[in-house]
Amino acid sequence: MALLDIIHYPDPRLHIPAAKVECIDDATRKLVADMAETMYAAEGIGLAATQVNVHQQVLVIDVSSDRSGLRVFINPEILRCEGASVNQEGCLSVPGIYDNVERAESVTVTALDEKGSRFTLNASGLLATCIQHEMDHLQGKVFVERLSELKQNRIRAKLKKRQRKAA
Ligand code: NI
Repeated sequence: MALLDIIHYPDPRLHIPAAKVECIDDATRKLVADMAETMYAAEGIGLAATQVNVHQQVLVIDVSSDRSGLRVFINPEILRCEGASVNQEGCLSVPGIYDNVERAESVTVTALDEKGSRFTLNASGLLATCIQHEMDHLQGKVFVERLSELKQNRIRAKLKKRQRKAA
């Protein structure tokens, strides 16, 4: 396993839409294992392949408190959305920025796991929020792009300043 580099907003590579995985093979399973290791090392609850500059529809999520509940979603599709709920979100690609985003309160999602088996999951609360956040990444969308233009400008300015300082 290996730690992968997470790309940071406003990197334009975060806007590349991910392609469907055609064949789930050992390379896919290595990507999943590396993404999980990277997510845990960064203390995140979800990671999309887009964030490690791999433009395939692969997500890893673990919203459990003891980090034992890894879930893998390959080619995920939302079958049903219900309700609305506003929650504070953050993102490993937008370090240090947290803001409220409105999402569906519950979703039904179907996807393949790393063995290629299809499953369908009803999710609500944090897991539902996380699935929607990560699926946005696969479409090239970062959560801050759901905020007002004013907030987006402020966040971009803040992150660019921080990146300049770090350089
Ligand atoms: Ni994110």
